[in-house]
Amino acid sequence: MKSVLFTRFFILLPWILIVIIMLDVDTRKPAPPLTPRPYFSPYAVGRGGARLPLRRGGPAHGTQKRNQSRPQPQPEQQLPTIYAITPTYSRPVQKAELTRLANTFRQVAQLHWILVEDAAARSELVSRFLARAGLPSTHLHVPTPRRYKRPGLPRATEQRNAGLAWLRQRHQHQRAQPGVLFFADDDNTYSLELFQEMRTTRKVSVWPVGLVGGRRYERPLVENGKVVGWYTGWRADRPFAIDMAGFAVSLQVILSNPKAVFKRRGSQPGMQESDFLKQITTVEELEPKANNCTKVLVWHTRTEKVNLANEPKYRLDTVKIEV
Ligand code: UGA
Ligand code: MN
Repeated sequence: MKSVLFTRFFILLPWILIVIIMLDVDTRKPAPPLTPRPYFSPYAVGRGGARLPLRRGGPAHGTQKRNQSRPQPQPEQQLPTIYAITPTYSRPVQKAELTRLANTFRQVAQLHWILVEDAAARSELVSRFLARAGLPSTHLHVPTPRRYKRPGLPRATEQRNAGLAWLRQRHQHQRAQPGVLFFADDDNTYSLELFQEMRTTRKVSVWPVGLVGGRRYERPLVENGKVVGWYTGWRADRPFAIDMAGFAVSLQVILSNPKAVFKRRGSQPGMQESDFLKQITTVEELEPKANNCTKVLVWHTRTEKVNLANEPKYRLDTVKIEV
């Protein structure tokens, strides 16, 4: 009798263990996400909508509220659209730069990317890239005239103007929806907080830029909420001593100043920003962001030129690979 009980126990033991393990697995909490939620998550759109607390047409969470007939305000729709104009040109690091940029932009709600190629035609690489980027975007192109492709001359003048022209054309006939324009060079580094700051731009807003002008940062100096000067190590005489990455303009201002563009004629190196801003605003009018311009939320990073010394002159690989 004792031995029968003994063998039964050993037959049942594995099953008991399996049940215990199953119970344990079921009751375990789901693993935390790999990255913590950013604290400004209301502005970040999760692709599956999981992060967005208030989204129209989503699964019915609050079923009781569904029958209240008055439509609820749509926070996502009320957000002003951020239009990011990015000039870009073909070079070995182009796709890498655009990939980093898209990875940032994809986390910003209500952003429209205006990508302007410095080229005679839209390239296949950028077209394919944008088609897969998962972002609302517009793909433009305009070549920089050969005579302007020289060291020391301003870059991307024609491309930024093409972006401005597209914006004005698009909003020609309709009353302007709230929007903010920002010039986002393809090689800079942008924090997500920056977009949160610029979204509330009423006319023209400004903030510090890191790693620029031969210093760790440049910034507008602010007193009593107004810009009164510039902390800069380079050409402090500039009317707006600020990099292209250091300001945003409301769509309304762009539309009500239809002639404001970037100019080639008479423009000195480093004066593009001032020449443009002079046409649409004054220093007194500027709106300081980033805690009265005391926080660096964007960096003027520059990518090292790649070493292609060992690249064969004629293709040796058996397949063609896009880099
Ligand atoms: C600095 C400023 O940060 C730029 O905003 C300004 O346009 C530039 O100087 C200038 O000299 O005009 P920097 O890092 O020296 O920037 O310039 P890049 O990053 O080489 O170029 C700025 C943007 O123009 C980039 O998005 C780049 O892809 C684009 N670009 C550059 C072109 O579209 N075509 C070119 O031939 C060169
Ligand atoms: Mn740059």
